[in-house]
Amino acid sequence: MASSATFLTILAVLAIALVSVEASRKAKPGTLCPTALFTFSDSLSDSGNRYREGMGSGDTLSALAGRDPYGVTYGRPTGRYSDGLLIPDLLISNLRLENLAIASLSYNGSEFVSLNFGYAGATVIPVQGNQPPYLVHASPELPASPEEHHRAIGGDDINFGLAQGGNYVVQVVVPAVVKGLADAIATLYSAGARNVLLFNMPRADCAPTYLQAFGEYQPGTYHLDKDGCIVEVGELVSVFNSAMQTMAGELRQNYTGLNVYYFDWNAANTEVIENMDTYGFTTNLKSCCGGGGQYNCNGGGLCGCGTANVSYTVCKDPDEYTTFDGVHYTGHFYRIMTDFILAGQYISPNVTLQKGCKVIPEEPAGPL
Ligand SMILES: *[C@@H]1O[C@H](CO)[C@@H](O)[C@H](O)[C@H]1NC(C)=O
Ligand SMILES: *[C@@H]1O[C@H](CO)[C@@H](O)[C@H](O)[C@H]1NC(C)=O
Ligand SMILES: *[C@@H]1O[C@H](CO)[C@@H](O)[C@H](O)[C@H]1NC(C)=O
Ligand SMILES: *[C@@H]1O[C@H](CO)[C@@H](O)[C@H](O)[C@H]1NC(C)=O
Repeated sequence: MASSATFLTILAVLAIALVSVEASRKAKPGTLCPTALFTFSDSLSDSGNRYREGMGSGDTLSALAGRDPYGVTYGRPTGRYSDGLLIPDLLISNLRLENLAIASLSYNGSEFVSLNFGYAGATVIPVQGNQPPYLVHASPELPASPEEHHRAIGGDDINFGLAQGGNYVVQVVVPAVVKGLADAIATLYSAGARNVLLFNMPRADCAPTYLQAFGEYQPGTYHLDKDGCIVEVGELVSVFNSAMQTMAGELRQNYTGLNVYYFDWNAANTEVIENMDTYGFTTNLKSCCGGGGQYNCNGGGLCGCGTANVSYTVCKDPDEYTTFDGVHYTGHFYRIMTDFILAGQYISPNVTLQKGCKVIPEEPAGPL
């Protein structure tokens, strides 16, 4: 039997993509039988690439996820920006493809395996800064001094756009990021990808690091919604997500045989934060690890190590928090999201991922 492969691809920053080459084993309608999964994303899915590349470079941010307290729930730091595992790890192990997501930079090239190209700080559009564009921020009235923004976020590309006003983000940055993603998916399509699982942007408006940063602005320049999240950031996220959804629809029309499954991560995230008890969380607005303060985010995100060098504390039970370091999520949160995906929830069109589809390469028939 010819080997068949359904590649599951996770795409840059705001997107996970399932890439599939038509499998010879027929899946039931509405189901996919992925034989491999490739991830393209940023620190939300980096299983060690940036750490691997940055080791010994003296770059503090690169080294960060390879140090305590990252990996504290898993048992040791692994280069993942979380206390535990990430969505690609959990998908890959649940689908019985590999044990965990293999960082592409550790790939030895000897056999066909699922790979994770997630890289912390990856951007879709090439601008200065190394923070991912899902870190949307601000409104036009906010102080636009570069230092202020740098201190607040760290100089990501959306942030870079913000120095030119919130409208610039909506009119220039969002279309550019969405186009970048569409082009990337088109490239994967040319390479044979047929199933793409695209994630929209989660509730970045609730990130403790933003709440901390916005707390320094004048009262009245921003507002909080019923979930305690920043309305002005949420609006930008909505603009972005609508553009993503439109793009997903266009891709389906433009590329014959391309399935784009849209995972509404934002809605799944809202479900969890509005029903925290059900999912075993106690707080959504406070970071597990951080430099203290109302959001445990003094000194910025990344356990307080983002932009300042403050000492941090780590919560006793990371499972009770959605956010681990003020920016990135906990392993528990990622597990709940993975459960949604595996159950086909918040995905349109509906799709169920079947387990155990990995193709074991046949032994070449040797001379007897
Ligand atoms: C290469 O990596 C694969 C997958 O991780 C592993 O099973 C295999 O043993 C490795 N081969 C060598 C020669 O290291
Ligand atoms: C789809 O095709 C239309 C018409 O050619 C084009 O305007 C649009 O940009 C394409 N969209 C994507 C996401 O490829
Ligand atoms: C941060 O603090 C640690 C421990 O206090 C110190 O060793 C390190 O040099 C500091 N790093 C920077 C960039 O200030
Ligand atoms: C799609 O999935 C949702 C959530 O699991 C389910 O409620 C709905 O019935 C499904 N729709 C179809 C057409 O299968």
